Amino acid sequence: MTDVAARIKANDPCWCGSGRKYKRCHRGLLGRVLPGRVGPPRPVPPDIARPDYASTGEPAARDEPMVKSPEVVCRVRRAGLVAAEVLALTGAAVAPGVTTDELDAVAHAAYLERGAYPSTLNYHGYPKSICTSVNEVICHGIPDDRPLADGDIVNIDVTAYLDGVHGDCSAMFLVGEVDEESCRLVEVTRECRDRGIAAVAPGRPVSDIGAAIEGHARAHGYGVVRAFIGHGIGETFHTRPSIPHYYTPEAATVMEPGMIFTVEPMITLGSWREKMWDNGWTAVTADGRRSAQFEHTLLVTEAGAEVLTPEPGRPELRPPARGSGLR
Ligand code: MF3
Ligand code: CO
Ligand code: CO
Repeated sequence: MTDVAARIKANDPCWCGSGRKYKRCHRGLLGRVLPGRVGPPRPVPPDIARPDYASTGEPAARDEPMVKSPEVVCRVRRAGLVAAEVLALTGAAVAPGVTTDELDAVAHAAYLERGAYPSTLNYHGYPKSICTSVNEVICHGIPDDRPLADGDIVNIDVTAYLDGVHGDCSAMFLVGEVDEESCRLVEVTRECRDRGIAAVAPGRPVSDIGAAIEGHARAHGYGVVRAFIGHGIGETFHTRPSIPHYYTPEAATVMEPGMIFTVEPMITLGSWREKMWDNGWTAVTADGRRSAQFEHTLLVTEAGAEVLTPEPGRPELRPPARGSGLR
């Protein structure tokens, strides 16, 4: 904490001379992520097939079935592999001093090399090719000119549109030396995602997923974000069913083989309550404490779940053995 923060009390007039209370003025800004400058959208060459909203910004309303045909499943599997590759490549570029817009450039080139369209680009007007959510940003951080700083944690969320379908995944990356508390949050958030996946079973309601995630988060004293949930995906980016990451009996959809949806819990060190930045996209924790997220796209099978966005070189259906150095 700086000297100023240590000396001034919450209701004192702010040091900046605004006449407002310190707590309503500059206190909230110390150590917080601030919106940076967002550059123009990156162009996509005309030979890459685009989703319906790419030009208008508005996805066409369609009623996609929750249970996909085998042919759609095959296509989502390929889109999912591409998304996972783009995610790994982009994550490898994370380092102190690298801006989130530089990460967007890395991801954008990687999509195009694979013949994929970055699904987020112009989705309801979203201006960039990935989401980058740093520290207390819960989700939908827009890549900008803010350089990553030593000690930051960042979620990179990649969605690839290939051959008429979307594959969606995200992961956390550590920037330089990260404090113990944040490392723990990141580790447990991955466990929450994986416990959610382990709860996927045909014949069971999707509320089992949120129950598994919430139970693990609570056991660590963490919050589960309620404002953003997992979603069905396929020819549509966001479709039925809804997958809350907390328990609610309203999540009554019964899982069936052939369903495809995401599990993408956002887990917080403190309160799960969010507030929105003025850009209309970015959600941050209301208390300014850190948040983490991991996401996979899943296929419901007779046996449970198949991960359609597996980390390259790390098959997630069979977890690596203990002591293999991979877990
Ligand atoms: N990939 C995000 C998800 O997991 C959605 C991003 S939509 C955007 O659902 F428009 F914000 F980019
Ligand atoms: Co998603
Ligand atoms: Co996503």
